[in-house]
Amino acid sequence: MSITTTIGVVGTPRDRVDGRLKVMGAATYPIDVNLPGLAYAALVQSTVTSGRIGHIAADAAERAPGVLAVIAHLNTPSLARGPITPIGPQPLPPFQSDAVLHYGQHVAMVVAETMEQAMAAAALIEVTYQRDTPVLSFDDPRTSPVFHPWTPDTVRGDAPRALATADVQVRETYTTTNNANSPIGLFATVAAWDGDALTVHDTTQYPHAVRDSLAAAFGIDPAGVRVLVPFVGGAFGAGLRVWPHVTLAALAARVTKRPVKLVLTRAQMFTSVGHRPNTIQQLALGASRDGQLTAIEHVSTSSIGMADELINLITHGTPNAYACPNVATRATQIRQSIPIPGFMRAPGEAEGSFALESAIDELSYALGIDPIELRVKNHAHVHPESGLPWSSNALLDCYRLGADRFGWSARNPGPRSMRNGRHLVGYGMARAALIAYQPPCKAIASIRRDGTAFVRSGATDIGPGPYTVMTMLAADCLGVPIERVQFGLGDSAMPKAPQEGGSGLTGALGNAVHDVCVALVRAFVKLVSDDGASPIKGCRLEGITVRDGGIQITDDPARFETYAAILTRHGLDEMTIEAESAPPGETPAATMIARGGRFVPFTVPSTGARAHAGGYAAHFVEVHVDPYLGTVRVARVVSAVDGGRILNPKTARSQIIGGIAMGIGMALLEETVSDRTGRLATTSLAEYVVAANADVREVDVLFVGQPDSMTPLGTKGIGELAITGMAAAIANAVYHATGTRVRSLPISIEKVLGNDDPRTKGSEGGIL
Ligand code: MOS
Repeated sequence: MSITTTIGVVGTPRDRVDGRLKVMGAATYPIDVNLPGLAYAALVQSTVTSGRIGHIAADAAERAPGVLAVIAHLNTPSLARGPITPIGPQPLPPFQSDAVLHYGQHVAMVVAETMEQAMAAAALIEVTYQRDTPVLSFDDPRTSPVFHPWTPDTVRGDAPRALATADVQVRETYTTTNNANSPIGLFATVAAWDGDALTVHDTTQYPHAVRDSLAAAFGIDPAGVRVLVPFVGGAFGAGLRVWPHVTLAALAARVTKRPVKLVLTRAQMFTSVGHRPNTIQQLALGASRDGQLTAIEHVSTSSIGMADELINLITHGTPNAYACPNVATRATQIRQSIPIPGFMRAPGEAEGSFALESAIDELSYALGIDPIELRVKNHAHVHPESGLPWSSNALLDCYRLGADRFGWSARNPGPRSMRNGRHLVGYGMARAALIAYQPPCKAIASIRRDGTAFVRSGATDIGPGPYTVMTMLAADCLGVPIERVQFGLGDSAMPKAPQEGGSGLTGALGNAVHDVCVALVRAFVKLVSDDGASPIKGCRLEGITVRDGGIQITDDPARFETYAAILTRHGLDEMTIEAESAPPGETPAATMIARGGRFVPFTVPSTGARAHAGGYAAHFVEVHVDPYLGTVRVARVVSAVDGGRILNPKTARSQIIGGIAMGIGMALLEETVSDRTGRLATTSLAEYVVAANADVREVDVLFVGQPDSMTPLGTKGIGELAITGMAAAIANAVYHATGTRVRSLPISIEKVLGNDDPRTKGSEGGIL
């Protein structure tokens, strides 16, 4: 009989540990950093889209009050490009030539005593250009395709043949548009040199990449660069690459021998921190009359900058989405004179799933089969490529439980068949999946003589809540009350962590935190192994329960000792352990997993025995369409999510809500518009419209499924699951409501009103 008094916090809905700091305005974002002697940099950006810089007239700016330096390509030293990271190459370093490759390219920088002086002086700089004709369309004969080494074409079976002989075919083209990450926190960099050592406060999702990039740029030792970002202020992927302005802030500080702050303006955010590049996607599906998929072809073309390389995952999810014997995918990027694209929530998957899940919906109408039934019929019960069983897969539960919660059975299958007052009502749904992704991650954990625990890793928290869930996880693994646990991140001096991105951080960091905490408990167990003064002398990990800041013999509650008492007796201030997470499918160094204060043996199925599954979701959407105005309102969303083990249902639910909001924006509102010379017309949040509170109504999130078997933690990534498939679910609902199939995002009013199909055009109650 054993007694534990520690209540496990993992799995319970908890408020954010940093919530109070944020609400009080006490959280320090990079933009808030103030240093003695701080100077300010302001950027001058190209007003042309392609060409060469002719002359930069900087005299007036140099004479302007407070100006310390004007920097442009002619007085900039050679700066090396940052190293390639596991998520791809960095953009080219700034100010290295007179070439202008896109509108909004940084062409000069003013450093001054105040931000106002810097901006005023920047406005005095006159730049002349030799203009070239920009490349702005996929069919421009001057452009060149880039075939991507990271996303190879896939072929399984013989898709063209299977298509030719299929009972039913759907063959359509879908387009998605340029979208811009629009975090409320403007990206900022504060750089300060001390000799050859550089400290940078930077809005980034990846401190170690910023460290390595700046070290390369300035030819210094990465160990001499420290990147700090305890709070990010939103990023959604915009902070995954090391952008030219980051290097420019460090350059400005080097030139002026002053700490320098550089804050992008809202307009500059649209051209300086990447965007979701537009796509054209051809989707072809073949199926038997009874709804068995026989072929999938997915060909995508997307834009990329004139001198850039970017991982592109548009077709990546398609081969293993359904149990289909014949699949072919191809993804091509076409160089364009556009601001350098980057990553935006579920990069590639959000776009690819729009095409695939729209096409599946079209197939359901062509076959006269309910869209859920069609998906269930083609569910991949095993990994389609390898034939291996999944490490976990609750997609069927997502369909079933989501449909129940949504009330799908009330749906009349015919398009234009449901109304609410004058509004056309549509129900649509889509499948979503993410690949399993867990990059390597290190963490370090200490228990101190005062009984507190301090765990840290050089990761970031862009908002989803690593601060909170890692604090919870450490508290449970160590048996230290959560109030006595501190979790630190956002510092490249901490152990190396991957980016917060690709929905991979909870798994990566969580497994590192879990392993390091188990290792730390093990170190205490070892310390008391022959300690005659300890009531837990000779204990073993298998036989203990951690609780109340110490270790208890599970079967003998009277035998208990706190970590603090052990440290004190041994004359130690703290015990500290560093560890690295084991890759999925490999047994971690800990070999025991912490659950409910106990430690139980753990065996992972090897990667050769199971296919490591990512997260799954089914999204259900009700839209109301005004037949007179063509406006689409997402009245409610139900998302059923298989996220494996959910560490904190509250923050997890918030992540899904955020993804749904971005999905609504992607589906209905967001579009970066350029004029025919390639200049951006949408450079504020008045013109680039994101989903606001009024656009996001009822949202219901349910979590289904079991802990994944491939890692000790059992989590799956969820950060990008909600936007994946969301645009398709909305488009499918719009079709169901109106009979208008919009295959081009965003689903704007004119596209909804543009229905001229006599088979589905309304004859009554509206112009639609
Ligand atoms: Mo997300 S685009 O991986 O931050």
